[in-house]
Amino acid sequence: MHEMSKVYTVLAIESTCDETACAIVRKFPDEQLVQVVSETTATSLVKHIETRGIVPEVAAREQLKSILPVIQETLKKAEQILERKLTPDSLDYLAVATGPGLIGSLLVGVETARALSLAWRKPLIPVNHVMAHPYANFTTHQRSNREENQQNSKNPTVEITNLPTPTFPLLSWVISGGHTDLYFMESHQHITKLGSSVDDSAGECFDKCARVLGFDYPGGPNIEKLANQFIEKRSQGNTRNHTLGNTNLPTPLLPRPLLHSHDFKTSFSGLKTAFLRKYQELAAEGQFDQEDVKQFLAHELQSAISDVILKKTQLALEKYPNTQSLLLSGGVAANQFLSHALQSLCDTHQSKPLAFFSPPLKWCTDNAVMIGSYAALHLDSAQDWEEVSVVL
Ligand code: KG4
Ligand code: ZN
Repeated sequence: MHEMSKVYTVLAIESTCDETACAIVRKFPDEQLVQVVSETTATSLVKHIETRGIVPEVAAREQLKSILPVIQETLKKAEQILERKLTPDSLDYLAVATGPGLIGSLLVGVETARALSLAWRKPLIPVNHVMAHPYANFTTHQRSNREENQQNSKNPTVEITNLPTPTFPLLSWVISGGHTDLYFMESHQHITKLGSSVDDSAGECFDKCARVLGFDYPGGPNIEKLANQFIEKRSQGNTRNHTLGNTNLPTPLLPRPLLHSHDFKTSFSGLKTAFLRKYQELAAEGQFDQEDVKQFLAHELQSAISDVILKKTQLALEKYPNTQSLLLSGGVAANQFLSHALQSLCDTHQSKPLAFFSPPLKWCTDNAVMIGSYAALHLDSAQDWEEVSVVL
């Protein structure tokens, strides 16, 4: 059982896919946000370019090589930031992502965490990777005033931070390569899944459509870049691309699957097929510049996905009118078109604007900070090393 008045330091490990990440975070008493002390992420993504996708065996072998250096590097950085030597006694808990993910990759992180937990005699907190994504929104890089106060005075009274903090009840989207999940969170303990994708996730749809246009994994950033080029050209109104956006092509060009389904299910598999068909049609017509076609379609795809997410969010806000905050997380949260759309929905929400949270770009995609943040806000779920294992 943890004490409410203590500062807790957690070392977290994440190795569910191709990344090997470690973070050290701290939870101050009464503070709603978790302080990030240091973090390191190694990725084997370049190794997967030749194979045009992640090869699990290759990913796990790379993670075996990098896991200990990544942990050492994170401890070293923390020592520099905190200006003191760290020993196992400086840590209170270890945390590790136990799934979902690639089995070989998961084993590297989980077995390392178990070994450290045994050697350092620290309780281990198993964390679900998907449930951890939103916790990238419960973090701060800022040094707490309370910390300064505790060091300098025996009477800490100054407020910790004035940073915007998500407040409950809240709605939370996790949109990644494997998930398009919407949750209603009444507290850190009471979380209800409202719905998810019945087939492909939004991230998978971005990746597969990007592949049609010749891009490797992860495709989302390439789609966004192309779409931005379209938006830029359209705003200048000076190109054939502008013409392409305003021809007699019916708009919207791509379907918005399950837009009116009155539930929180999404489906992006048909969108991917429609994208392929439209690309083949427009490319074959020969009347448009190929780059223009790609940029135009990338924008159409981004708009279609964004429209679906927006509509489902509106529906959830109608169903849960007491919602205080809206959270976006997961790799697709890096998409600025989507996050701006959700931000404006919150800004113009009925009589009272809603607080919107999306993580800084580096914490949208997989990282160990979100694992540490989740763990620091669920310290009661700590277990003995023997009880923690990979969850398939
Ligand atoms: O959360 P994440 O790093 O890994 C999983 O847990 O799946 O998410 C990866 C997904 C990929 O599908 C990738 O294409 C997508 O996030 N993604 C984006 C963007 N950046 C990453 N999708 C759209 N726009 C982006 N800028
Ligand atoms: Zn993820």
